[in-house]
Amino acid sequence: MPSVLFVCLGNICRSPLAEGILRREAAVRGIPLEVDSAGTGDYHIGSLPDPRACAEGTARGCAMTMRARQVRPSDFERFDLVVAMDAQNRRNLVRMAGPNAAKIRLLREFDPTAPRDAEVPDPYYGGPAEFTDVAEMIERAVEGMLRELGKGFPTH
Ligand code: 4NP
Repeated sequence: MPSVLFVCLGNICRSPLAEGILRREAAVRGIPLEVDSAGTGDYHIGSLPDPRACAEGTARGCAMTMRARQVRPSDFERFDLVVAMDAQNRRNLVRMAGPNAAKIRLLREFDPTAPRDAEVPDPYYGGPAEFTDVAEMIERAVEGMLRELGKGFPTH
C-alpha cells in the first residue's frame, strides 16, 4: 500500500491537518493509503493537535485525534513519500534521510497553481485566519498529490 508521511516542526498544526485531509480524501475515494505525520522537533510529543488545527480539521470532515511524534530514521525506509511543509523542515529531513532523500518533497510542489518552492507557513503564532489559509493550501496540494498517486507516485 502506498504510504505518505507529512512533516512539520511541532506535528501539532500543519502536518496533522495534512494527515487528516489526505486520510479523508483516501477514505472518500476508496484509495488504500497509509498516512501518518510527524515533527522534526520534540516539543509536543504525545500531544493532540493544536485546538485551532482541530477546529479547522473537524470543520472539514477530518478526524483530528492523532498524537504528535518526532520523525525517526526508520521513517525514510517505511514511507514512499516524506512531505515537508516548509524549506526548513525539508533541510532537516534531507540531513536525516541519507540515501532515501529522493523520497522528500515539499507539500506545495503537488499544487500546480503554487509558485515554485512555495511553503506552508507556520501558523502557530497566527490566528484563525492563518489556520484557514494553511488548510486551503493543504487541500489544493492534497488534490494534486492524489492525481500523482494515480500515476504511480514519482518521487521527482
Ligand atoms: P507546526 O506548528 O510545525 O505546524 O506543528 C508549530 C507548532 C509548535 C511550534 C512551532 C510550530 N512551537 O514552536 O512550539
